[in-house]
Amino acid sequence: MIVSMANGFIPQTIVPPRAPLRNFAFFAAAARNVLEVLDKGIFETRLRVVDFAGRRSVAVMDPALIEQVLLDDASLYKRGNVQQRIFEPVFPKGLLTTEGEVWKRQRRAAAPSFRTTALEGLVPVMSRAGVDAGRALAQLTASETTDILPHMTRATFDVIRQTLLGGDHSAASQAELFVAIEEFITYGARLDPVLILGLPRWLPRPGKRRAERAGQAMRAFAKAGLDVRRAQPQPDSQDLLQALLDARDPQTGLGLDEDELVDNILTFIAAGHETTALALTWSLYLLAGVPDIQEAVAAEVSATCGTASVTHGNLPDLQLTERVIKEAMRLYPPAPFIQRTPNTTLTLDGYTIPPGSNVTCMIYVTQRSPLYWDRPAEFDPDRFLPERSQGRHRFAWMPFGGGPHTCIGMRFAMMEAVTILAEIVRRVRVGLVPGHQVIPIQRVTLRPQGGMPLLIKAR
Ligand code: HEM
Repeated sequence: MIVSMANGFIPQTIVPPRAPLRNFAFFAAAARNVLEVLDKGIFETRLRVVDFAGRRSVAVMDPALIEQVLLDDASLYKRGNVQQRIFEPVFPKGLLTTEGEVWKRQRRAAAPSFRTTALEGLVPVMSRAGVDAGRALAQLTASETTDILPHMTRATFDVIRQTLLGGDHSAASQAELFVAIEEFITYGARLDPVLILGLPRWLPRPGKRRAERAGQAMRAFAKAGLDVRRAQPQPDSQDLLQALLDARDPQTGLGLDEDELVDNILTFIAAGHETTALALTWSLYLLAGVPDIQEAVAAEVSATCGTASVTHGNLPDLQLTERVIKEAMRLYPPAPFIQRTPNTTLTLDGYTIPPGSNVTCMIYVTQRSPLYWDRPAEFDPDRFLPERSQGRHRFAWMPFGGGPHTCIGMRFAMMEAVTILAEIVRRVRVGLVPGHQVIPIQRVTLRPQGGMPLLIKAR
């Protein structure tokens, strides 16, 4: 279904300062919300170099230069320091933290489990989570204002719990795990000077103990899930837990050892659950802003699925639903910045970049830049129609990154987001809350500050 609409809806975001912030103003804004330091000029700049305290920092906005960093010169970089400091203490041996040969072996072993055909069996779990979320929202009193973020987090948590942790948990243990994941994200991933500057980890940090306890609780769940599956083998299961147990590197025949199994379960929870919940939350906000597109999505779902639940066979026909999610991740990429650190001295766009520099691919900026997008501030899902995508650089839209570290869960996330959004929109109408200010805030992921209250009405 194609609904080309110049709807004029400009969703809210941070208004950029007119000139780059300096000194104290810069650091104060960065501590509040990194988006606040993005001045107007950076949205029309290809690359910016800043030298501070003996270290070079490079912001890369141009898609061709981003392609050079993430793909062409990928072997000259390692992962960014800050990301490593957040994740390494919790899951040092997983796909998101390892480098070199260990990473390559794991990636080769896990990749087949994330191909579309391997994931098809998971769509029923995803649609059940969407049905539950849609029903829970539909039961709210008419026109009630509801923060939808916890609803979306609960839905994606249900999917990850059932596909990765073996599924059978008591309500009490589900709640305990849910809290542990939330605490790990809230406290473990909070950007403070210890993380940004790489200060010693034994220094006191707010929430440090809670983050450590949350990490331990998550680890215990992952181990218990593995133990249960080993005690009651399910060789025919199509879930991600079985896929990890069965993963073999095609080149060496090696599987994942015990620590790698546990660390990758934790990695998939951390990398895959909140990001997808945010993609859904931002999608619903945008649909609330343009009721015509919302109705067109509902009509697409009913034309495709009738009254039955979404199946994997329906997904290719839910094209507008998919374009809405793509457009939501353009305006609000759940992972708004990708960092790298060069291993060696290299050159980028004529600048010398010494080892240890911070090179940041500014996904949020590129995806809102008038250099690469027509009317970049406007919500327009049809910009992803094939005929309107021609000529666009393939790194102009990259919410899942690019190159060898491209998100391994990309297809999983897209299937999940399309399925859950379809199940929700067919059950409820969402509307904007008059006067409510929507502020995206960067906390490793891009979240709506204070949640996302919307008006909800059952259909
Ligand atoms: C909308 C949802 C998602 C978004 C926006 C997202 C975004 C990203 C991005 C930008 C990267 C690249 C990081 C880099 O280059 O440094 C990445 C990597 C990764 N993602 Fe996702 N992700 C999502 C969902 C998922 C899911 C569902 C899973 C697993 C179940 C997952 C697992 C991973 C892993 C393991 C990596 C590391 C890959 C590697 O280094 O080889 N992600 N993700």
